[in-house]
Formats: sequence, structure tokens, C-alpha cells
Amino acid sequence: MGYGTKELSEAKSGDSFDLLGPIGTGFPLDAAQDKKQIILTGGGIGAPPLLQLARALRRTGIGKDSITAVLGYRSMKSGLFLNEEFSAEVNVILSTDDGSVGTRGTVVDALKERDLKPDIIYACGPLPMLKAVKDFAADSFIPAFISLEERMACGMGVCLGCMVKTAGRDSHSHVNNARICTEGPVFNAEEVVL
Ligand code: FES
Repeated sequence: MGYGTKELSEAKSGDSFDLLGPIGTGFPLDAAQDKKQIILTGGGIGAPPLLQLARALRRTGIGKDSITAVLGYRSMKSGLFLNEEFSAEVNVILSTDDGSVGTRGTVVDALKERDLKPDIIYACGPLPMLKAVKDFAADSFIPAFISLEERMACGMGVCLGCMVKTAGRDSHSHVNNARICTEGPVFNAEEVVL
């Protein structure tokens, strides 16, 4: 996608990088405690963070039966990225654009097809998917946490290059904006305007 990913893709075992982190917010694990049906929805580059979330939730003592990952892919042909790793941790439901496996359509189509009524949703993936998950959660009065993505220059809240519109005004500068790198990347879905 760019200079950073190119450099990472060419890294060899033993190479070293300077990293700054953790920065920003993570998925709140406490929001899932005592919930019977926890849904993780994602696709593409949203899948790896959700796998880590699945493992973190399991480590808090939540059973496999209470967590379902709804994963969206293009097609069986292009591969089911991390499907096996998710299956080791949680229940898995699939959707594909072409219907070659699972529900034909989006992750929200898969949720609706099964008439699932989650107690909480965590989502990470492309913006159209996050928007659909946000709308689905709002329509069904389900708490949802979504991880947004933006190109980031500083990553520390200084350059204001990663803004997202928010429903409320911030108390400091009284604008309807938040920095994805600092107030996010994980937001309560109802707090942001997509
Ligand atoms: S990347 Fe600079 S403020 Fe977020």
C-alpha cells in the first residue's frame, strides 16, 4: 500500500524496527463481561486485531460458546484468511461476496440470515462494513465498538490528520471531531458519524 508496508513486506527474520506503542484505545474487554452472545465482525486487514481480541476475551474466562466471529471474505478462491485460527478460539460464521462459502453478501447479511441477536458487537474492517455494522447495531439497540482506520502522520494526536466526525462536541475545542490515533482507533459506534 505504501512505503511502510513495502518495507515491512521485505523484512527478513532477524531484522529490527523501531516501534512506538501502544497508542490510542483498544477494544474494551470489560464491556463483554456477563454477555451471553459476543459477536466479532471483520474482514480483510480487520481480521488480525479481532483474532487477538478473541484470544484476549477467552483469557478473561469467557467460554468459546459465547463468542462468534462473523468473517467476511471475497470468495473461497481468494482464501479464508485466519479462518482456522479463529475456529480454534471461537465459533465462526462466514460470508463471501460470491456465496462460494457461507452467506452470500456481507457480515451483516450473515447476522440477519441467522437472526442473531448479539449482546455486544466488536468490529474491525473496511469502512463500508463498519458503517453497516454501526447501523445494524443502532437499529437493534446493541452496544457496538468499532475500530476505525486512517492514514496517520504523527500517531500522537498532534497533526490532526486522522479526524473522524463525532456525534458530540469535545469539551476542549468544542468541535464535532475526534482523533482516530488518540481518542480512537476504537470508538463506541454511537459516538462517531460515518
Ligand atoms: S495521526 Fe496525527 S493527530 Fe492523529
